Amino acid sequence: MTEIRVGLLGLGTIGTGVARILIEQQELISRRLGKTVRLVAAVDRDLDRDRGLDLSAVRLSDDANDVVTADDVDLVVELIGGYEPARSFVATALEHGKHVVTANKALVAKHGEELFPLAASNGVAIGFEAAVGGGIPCLKALREGCAANAVQSVYGILNGTCNFILTKMELEGADYADVLKEAQQLGYAEADPTFDVEGIDTAHKLSILAAMAFGSKINFDEVFTEGISKITAADIESAAELGYRIKLLGIAKPHAENGEVTQVEMRVHPTLVPVASQIAQVSDSYNAVQVSGDFVEHTLYVGRGAGERPTASAVVADIMDIARVAPDGVNHLAPPMGFAEAERRELKTLPVADIECEYYLRLMVQDEPGVIASVTSILADHRISLEAMSQKERHASHAVAVVMLTHETTEGNLQAAISRIVGLNAVEDDVLILRKESAVL
Ligand code: HSE
Repeated sequence: MTEIRVGLLGLGTIGTGVARILIEQQELISRRLGKTVRLVAAVDRDLDRDRGLDLSAVRLSDDANDVVTADDVDLVVELIGGYEPARSFVATALEHGKHVVTANKALVAKHGEELFPLAASNGVAIGFEAAVGGGIPCLKALREGCAANAVQSVYGILNGTCNFILTKMELEGADYADVLKEAQQLGYAEADPTFDVEGIDTAHKLSILAAMAFGSKINFDEVFTEGISKITAADIESAAELGYRIKLLGIAKPHAENGEVTQVEMRVHPTLVPVASQIAQVSDSYNAVQVSGDFVEHTLYVGRGAGERPTASAVVADIMDIARVAPDGVNHLAPPMGFAEAERRELKTLPVADIECEYYLRLMVQDEPGVIASVTSILADHRISLEAMSQKERHASHAVAVVMLTHETTEGNLQAAISRIVGLNAVEDDVLILRKESAVL
């Protein structure tokens, strides 16, 4: 029976999960493949920690070169995370003719466009299913299952940590910092949790999904990104009163001229979704990806978006895909980004000012006659129509929170109105702007 020899870079949360699957599920994997996948080497800075696994048959080292250039390794699994040194290790492995599987969304979002051609020119494959949606096989669904469609939109709850935090804040009235700590203990959070809570991790994942959906190049730096750190329990409550739940959503849509896609809209922000929608039911560390296509209509993929076992499941599925066609058949795999490399386009990103949506505004205003009239008159000047409005009880400072839901307008127009509104003496500077999306399943 043919054997594929695997070397692991990183024996942290996910690396331990991958080692566990390769050891505990070895027989199942062999039966599915008709080939053996064997873990031969692993690299980590901490080799003493007890991981609850028998690694006696695995060559352990603290030097990445013992895997990325080793003659007895056919496939390198990169689970270090971050941009560097992960990029250098992956590039070296590809140059040495090794297939690579990674869960590193930061790496793919930032350096994928350099690594895909490197893999192709060395006749090897690169897999990154675990980089988006944790255990959900959403990239495979988009790349292969929905391949017959022109994709019309992608919506995603793509960060388990944020979803866990928002869920606990809503259900348990839990404190933001405590919940973040719990997410870290469960192995959900990034090494730098600002990547989670400020939306950067979601933007990494969205940029990969958008490029795969629309046949464009990955443009992570151009994703409009806002995180959840300004959301308060009061906002969650106000949204609920209006019939909405707040989720950190990644949204990607194509914009066409004369039937041809010319621009891609990409944004990540806390979003009000109807409380009855399916996406609003996705809680804890679960992720969801909604892909809508011109023939398939709406599809929704839900599963654990973070954590050892689900993420390792996606990593091993990639290893198995590659093992199935290795050593000489990697051309039989779907192209990594779902389009023939020569057919992928440099599409522009829709300017932020041109994004159109409905808004939730939370303003702190002095409780005086005529203030609301001044605010709504500015909104009227900008042709911004209100769907709903509520005023909260007065604070000791005489400031009251006023919450407004608007109908659709452009970001540019909304921002112009807000800069005039905060110029009013009776309105405080820190207006919270959230966006609303009703087109989710
Ligand atoms: N920090 C990420 C999350 C891990 O919370 O979703 C999975 O990519």
